[in-house]
Amino acid sequence: MIALACDHTGVDLKMEIMHLLDEMGLEYKDFGTNTRESCDYAVFGSRAARAVARGECDRGILICGTGVGIGMAAGKVPGIRVCTCSDVYTATLSKRHNNSNILTFGARVVGVDVAKMIAKAWLTETFEGGRHQRRIDQIAAIERGEEL
Ligand code: RB5
Repeated sequence: MIALACDHTGVDLKMEIMHLLDEMGLEYKDFGTNTRESCDYAVFGSRAARAVARGECDRGILICGTGVGIGMAAGKVPGIRVCTCSDVYTATLSKRHNNSNILTFGARVVGVDVAKMIAKAWLTETFEGGRHQRRIDQIAAIERGEEL
């Protein structure tokens, strides 16, 4: 189950991502917004991120104007590892090495086709584990307030 969320800037791109997920046969849950009326990305981003952190959703794709604000908000939820990106390489490696569980885009930064390529690459990648697990464990320790 993929969690989806966006602010008012990302409604159209989110619908395109829904089409992609339909084509890929992946289920999703939409946490809003669904209007182009100005709203606050933290509200919708945090709802989707909490669903991922609780295990109700496996991953999330979140969209705002730049991908930055909604990514920052999602990243404040413990257990969430966000990749904000506009290229396939970063998205791919963020899964292989960082086990990112939330991908964010900027609807004002990437075009529809690029966004779909990024999402498809990210959704089909797997975490490599090994030495990368140790590093993710360190990130979790920072989250708990521990010093490395
Ligand atoms: C909204 O104008 C814009 O600030 C928001 O979508 C996002 O880009 C913030 O990071």
